[in-house]
Amino acid sequence: MLEGRISNVPHVPRGRSLLDARDMMRNPVAVFEKYRARLGPTFTLHFGGVKASLVSTDPAILEHVLRSNRDNYEKSYIQVERMVEFQGEGVVNTHGEAWLRQRRLLAQGFKPAYLDKLLPMQQDVLQGLMSDFDRDVRKGPVDVRRQMLRFTLRLVGKSLFGRTMRIEELEQIADIIASIEAFAHRQITQPWKIPWFRLSGQSAKYQQLRRDGDAIALRHIRARITEGLRENDILQVLLETPYQDTGQTMDEPLVLTESLQMLVAGNQTSSNALTWIFYLLARHPKYIREIRDEVVAVIGENAIDYQNLHQLEGTVRVIDEAMRLFPPFWMIDRVALKTDEIGGVHIPAGVMVIPYIYGTHRNPAQWEDVETFDPRRFERGRSKERHPFAFIPFGGGPRLCLGANLAVMQILMIVVAFVRHYDFTLANDEPVAIQPKMLLQPQSAVIMNFQAAKHT
Ligand code: HEM
Repeated sequence: MLEGRISNVPHVPRGRSLLDARDMMRNPVAVFEKYRARLGPTFTLHFGGVKASLVSTDPAILEHVLRSNRDNYEKSYIQVERMVEFQGEGVVNTHGEAWLRQRRLLAQGFKPAYLDKLLPMQQDVLQGLMSDFDRDVRKGPVDVRRQMLRFTLRLVGKSLFGRTMRIEELEQIADIIASIEAFAHRQITQPWKIPWFRLSGQSAKYQQLRRDGDAIALRHIRARITEGLRENDILQVLLETPYQDTGQTMDEPLVLTESLQMLVAGNQTSSNALTWIFYLLARHPKYIREIRDEVVAVIGENAIDYQNLHQLEGTVRVIDEAMRLFPPFWMIDRVALKTDEIGGVHIPAGVMVIPYIYGTHRNPAQWEDVETFDPRRFERGRSKERHPFAFIPFGGGPRLCLGANLAVMQILMIVVAFVRHYDFTLANDEPVAIQPKMLLQPQSAVIMNFQAAKHT
């Protein structure tokens, strides 16, 4: 129940929200940016003219919601109830003790020491991908997002399910996830159609698809158990790690839910991030040369490992700056459980609070020249210039992205492989616009030419 109104912040009138409803469906970031320019870092609006929401790009408010007073803010019904229908209940969409128990166990699979063990298998997978890519680029320009989807599906998929998961199975599961996500997106943006989706049998159709995807993953999990095969992958952690409280391991349905939730969480996020990274590198080729020089200086002829990848400080700065400008999650959402007050802003229970990441990364109180691509802002020591929650591509607080270490490792591996082998340019000079869906995608295909690198 709402208790009173959100107060002490500028408000988008309900009529305006309704008038902007169509634009909101097409490009919510453009609408949010218009409100932010007019009203400042924090404002309220009614989503679809209905749901009272506080949108904020103020890092102090975000820190309060995501960290200091996190127990008062749960993920919204969109992430929890809507998603349970297709994803079951796992770490992404549970709360309290159930979430913490899962999070602690799963976190074992994302520790640097474990990822270091996973890395050789990931290098083999990457090598195979690079040979296929090399064949493709010899034929002409390529669609970078499509390519990156292939790269991350295989890398993330194999890091979760291991070497023995067949590519065709991974692709089948990914196609099913993509259809279900498109359907979930329609349910979120057009909630009034939900009864019709049920009546017309569409919901049942997607439930069946979900069961088909589950069956493929389950066959693989069962084969791992019956064959007694051991691999350095995340599935092994799920199957073997005992819970601290009971000493028991995870049961099979939960292993299935968690592994699929992580595939959903980790595949398109990383491929979108990589697409924007390559787009920005092509627009700023001096950084391609800088990264290449750094790779030679830091790794040289040595094998890549978790340590030396992370010594590529200049490369990490480019990745961070790309995720500042184009954060794959452009927003996240929470709901206030009890009435709260943040820096004089009154937040009634039941209000949706939106940490608006895209706007936070462009908040002029935190960043200079917000639209300029300038990796130097991430130089050592300069983070003191801003609030710790001014840069949150992986979220913040205890629900920080569980896969962040894996994502950065894989992105670094891919960027290193590409700058070692290729110079690249955009086929077309026109800037690529954003298309914010669940994730921040490019509106049009990012087509690029790749030529063998000229080593100087
Ligand atoms: C560049 C790539 C990625 C980005 C930008 C990203 C971003 C995020 C963000 C912003 C959240 C927080 C959501 C919220 O608080 O509502 C999150 C959560 C999560 N991410 Fe990622 N993610 C990425 C890759 C991955 C990968 C590779 C995996 C696993 C294979 C993964 C697994 C998860 C999980 C399980 C959660 C939920 C954690 C929890 O609620 O405790 N992510 N991610």
